[in-house]
Amino acid sequence: MTPSLPLPSSSADAANGHEPSSRLAGFYRLPIDARRRTLVEQTWLTPDGSASLADRAGFDERVADTMSENVVGVHTLPLALGLNFRINGKDRIAPMSVEEPSVVAAASHAARLALTGGGFVAETDEPLMIAQVQLLHVPDAEGATAKLLRNHDALVEQANRVIPEMVRRGGGVRGLTVRTLEQTADGAMLCVHFVVDVRDAMGANLLNTLAETMAPRLQGLVGGKMGLRILSNLADRRKARAEVTIPVEALAGEGFDGPAVRDGIIAASRFAELDVYRACTHNKGIMNGVDAVILATGNDWRAVEAGAHAYAARNGRYEPLAVWRATPNGDLYGRLEMPLALGTVGGAVRAHPGVRLALQLAHIQSARDLAELAACVGLASNLAALKALASTGIQKGHMALHARSVAVEVGATGEEVAAVALELTRHGDYRPERAVLVLEALRAGSLTA
Ligand code: MEV
Repeated sequence: MTPSLPLPSSSADAANGHEPSSRLAGFYRLPIDARRRTLVEQTWLTPDGSASLADRAGFDERVADTMSENVVGVHTLPLALGLNFRINGKDRIAPMSVEEPSVVAAASHAARLALTGGGFVAETDEPLMIAQVQLLHVPDAEGATAKLLRNHDALVEQANRVIPEMVRRGGGVRGLTVRTLEQTADGAMLCVHFVVDVRDAMGANLLNTLAETMAPRLQGLVGGKMGLRILSNLADRRKARAEVTIPVEALAGEGFDGPAVRDGIIAASRFAELDVYRACTHNKGIMNGVDAVILATGNDWRAVEAGAHAYAARNGRYEPLAVWRATPNGDLYGRLEMPLALGTVGGAVRAHPGVRLALQLAHIQSARDLAELAACVGLASNLAALKALASTGIQKGHMALHARSVAVEVGATGEEVAAVALELTRHGDYRPERAVLVLEALRAGSLTA
């Protein structure tokens, strides 16, 4: 039986009903089964959950077949954990699925750094989504708007009757707005928004049903022709915010002092604020973490991506979703704000057992909880990238992880992987041909593991 981590004091606390710790030092060095045992010991996971994880959570072809069309197999990604997160004073671990090797390590590294300042602070808006109805060729835009607004309460009431289950769960339609988008000789194009509280759902199906049901009633009131009836993925009423402050001295390392790294990160932030080419890459680094959480928890990452980038461009210029500044006493402060329309009920959560396990693992209680976690992982990913870029450069860390992939690619297994990767990194030569030679030398005993 492989060893699990020696229990830190917080494990004993966890067993006594205290909160489990996200600080699992040396976790990455353990074999996979020992990692799962550590999670059970820490009470992140139940023994049943652990057994299920080992069995790919029972996600097989039959389940896959219910989720898509023309299924011919199952496509899998690693389920990894972002560690060291403390959010609003509570330890959290982040389920992350992503193909890029450095993403999880980078987020965990930055979250550990954040612990030096007490961790992250996060919050979310109420889960308000927008369903849009487009009305075309409306004869009298002003009169139509006035009529719709006069009927506001009655329309909201009718709309709520379309979604009784959501109303029962405490959600429902909260209001309606009207805008004239265009006026031509053929009449006006109006856009009606239903603002809907969707509680723990992502809400897409519900919003689309609502828009399709209500559109004929709107048309009946104002004339013209119905156009599109669909949700908006710009979920700007459903934003998440994350903040972090890092004591300046904690930023020092690799030959760089704290103020130099802080100033480098702030200069990187300003670069993204001033230049769209950089803002794009800056936000890609944020989405590295956000998308990994979204994918692991079965949410619609295309919707979140679309919303994030539209929000980034809301001022008429594409801007960074997170910015960094110095605090009055010289520490580093970062803040992220972005729409995060995530659900913890319905959709893949219902269909995919691995998604349910990921949510269980992260002790996610609500969609807002999940959005706060994703926002913090996004901010951590941004911090890790900017810190590396502002000091040693990004390639050092990337290539060390790449070296592991090359080692596996040429057949290294177990402890050979680290030994081959180390040798490739030492010489800065990551070619597979070179890895083959290193592996042969290792197996012949002329290179020590
Ligand atoms: C790479 O996946 C992400 C970065 O390019 C982000 C950034 O430049 O901020 C490192």
